Amino acid sequence: MSSLSFPEGFIWGAAASSYQIEGAWDEDGKRESIWDRFVHQPYHVVGGDTGDVACDHYHRMPLDVALMKSIGLNSYSLTLSWSRILPDGTGTINSKGLDFYQRLVDRLLEAEITPKVILNHWDFPQSLQDRGGWPNREMVDWFVDYAQVVFESLSDRVNFWSTHCEPWVIAFLGYGTGEHAPGICDFTQAYQAVHHLLLSHAKTVQLFKASGYSGKIGIILNIDAYRPASERDEDIAATKRVYQESADLFLDPIFKGTYPQELFNWIGSQAPQTLDGDLEIIKGSADFIGINYYKSFKVSHNVGSYILKAELIPNPEPGWSVTEMGWGIGPSGLTDLLLDITNRYGNPLLYVTENGCALIDTPDEDGFVVDYGRINFMRAHIQAVHQAIKAGADVRGYYVWSLLDNFEWAYGYSKRFGIVRVNFDTLERIPKQSASWYSLVIKENAVSV
Ligand code: FCB
Repeated sequence: MSSLSFPEGFIWGAAASSYQIEGAWDEDGKRESIWDRFVHQPYHVVGGDTGDVACDHYHRMPLDVALMKSIGLNSYSLTLSWSRILPDGTGTINSKGLDFYQRLVDRLLEAEITPKVILNHWDFPQSLQDRGGWPNREMVDWFVDYAQVVFESLSDRVNFWSTHCEPWVIAFLGYGTGEHAPGICDFTQAYQAVHHLLLSHAKTVQLFKASGYSGKIGIILNIDAYRPASERDEDIAATKRVYQESADLFLDPIFKGTYPQELFNWIGSQAPQTLDGDLEIIKGSADFIGINYYKSFKVSHNVGSYILKAELIPNPEPGWSVTEMGWGIGPSGLTDLLLDITNRYGNPLLYVTENGCALIDTPDEDGFVVDYGRINFMRAHIQAVHQAIKAGADVRGYYVWSLLDNFEWAYGYSKRFGIVRVNFDTLERIPKQSASWYSLVIKENAVSV
């Protein structure tokens, strides 16, 4: 069997996020977060599931690091819970919260697994949402203060940082459609949140650089593949708007110091308020861009579809189908996306920071899952990354989503993305077939064709 080798030093990792795995939602001084509030209200999450216990990673962390080691991961992408570290969002530090992350990072280092730390994967203290959350400009300073507390405590051991994970999701699902916490439906707030997320990212990067911490710091974007549903002008225009809102809206300010004017003409009065100088701060604020890639859509113009008037239709590539999320599988879209960013933004340093799929897993009587579907998905996407590198993209790593089956936001525990199965009755972890397959990829630094 032939295989495709990756450049020496390519990072193979797995990702997870605090709210989705930790549980212990009100322990050791942690206070209520926006996701705690959201899930404790009726009808927000499938089956009424909550992250109160989740995978109980907070108590089982040493076991989970041992699992990562047994798989052979080079790196683990984790998120910190702001509500554990600064329970009120600002002010008093909860040393027990910081202590948990210090122990986690120490364990990872002992296991020779590089910690990649994300400051914000969606969840934050409810008390700050009570003061307006991301649409409130004060959030920028609150976030930078939180980042400073974290840097002071972990920067001697961590040198790979991301500020925000998927600001598009935070803004548009949290404040636009209301599908996610804090459940607000107001696109003016959503676009304002985008600006404050970018500004807080950039000011955090400024702080990081000015304080002389070593290592890389970047931001993680979720971008899908979009193709027009037809050759009609209106479908082509709708596709462009959707792509601009997920890619250019974040990448233009970061690389060029401008917002995409065409998109802003379209959204008109909902465009965010900015102050003089904001865009200069945002320009040049990322050492790398993380790309979370999952799916492929056809886009058609639809006057009834939210602000962009664009309807997204799952669009699996030939030979592929949809996952349990109903997401169209599109591996070649990942190559195209990495190359498009490479070509339009001056060949930046890139990582695939999330990629994976939810499938119906059928465990045998020992709880073992043979998940060839997941292996096929990962193999094809890893091949797609290889193709992008060959064509000139500077991609330095791949992180599978996710290490463990976990709390999949509004879908609760009904969707399983892990390469390790979690039995949510006993909380037992059992690596799936895909975990053994991934171990081999990591060991050989190559994927079969
Ligand atoms: C990404 C999220 C992650 C998980 C996967 C399936 O958009 O960052 O938390 O929900 O989707």
